[in-house]
Amino acid sequence: MAIKNQKEYFNETYKNWQEVSDEKTAIIDKIIKKLGISEGESLLDVASGTGVLYENLKDISLSKYVALDISENMLKELKKLYFEAKTICADFDEDIDLGEKFDFLVIFNSIPHFENLDTVFTNVYKHLKDRGTFAIAHSRTREKLKEHHRNIGYSLGRDAIPSDDTLLKLTRNYGFKECYIEDEEIFFFSCRK
Ligand SMILES: C[S@@+](CC[C@H](N)C(=O)[O-])C[C@H]1O[C@@H](n2cnc3c(N)ncnc32)[C@H](O)[C@@H]1O
Repeated sequence: MAIKNQKEYFNETYKNWQEVSDEKTAIIDKIIKKLGISEGESLLDVASGTGVLYENLKDISLSKYVALDISENMLKELKKLYFEAKTICADFDEDIDLGEKFDFLVIFNSIPHFENLDTVFTNVYKHLKDRGTFAIAHSRTREKLKEHHRNIGYSLGRDAIPSDDTLLKLTRNYGFKECYIEDEEIFFFSCRK
């Protein structure tokens, strides 16, 4: 199996992504704590899906939460659950300019879907405030994700989660600092502008 068109695929399968297990909720909680997100800060949730991150963020009193996704059906579901959330339907694999900047930009459980990491990092840099934090997090480690993809017969033809080398290079090339990578229990990468 391979996904040919992300927008079509996720518009068709949006219902499959709504259920959030207690385990996933605990992982999201851990990620939010790791990032140290606090009241008054802003966050761009890239490839938000139906808003699984926001469920754990909504009580923090962020100054701004924006959910961005390529699938309008995912965002429609998000809006049904969280009418107050701002949503943007856009392709983060293309050069975009939202005209606003955030303290945090997070890609959760979605990095395998991005083909052009140079464009992703360019978009991230453009939309982060100075000292802002970018994070790529996944509820599975690289190895566990590979195993999962093997089990479901999903083939990408590239690393589902970029290697340490690739992430270090991108961090450097795009002028970020404080690169941190963890690949135990969950996958977590972060860097700062
Ligand atoms: C596996 S789902 C995960 C969604 C959500 N983060 C979660 O954990 O439930 C991947 C998401 O990536 C979105 N996506 C895929 N390619 C994208 C792109 N190029 N730009 C923005 N969103 C994209 C899909 O529409 C989908 O909502």
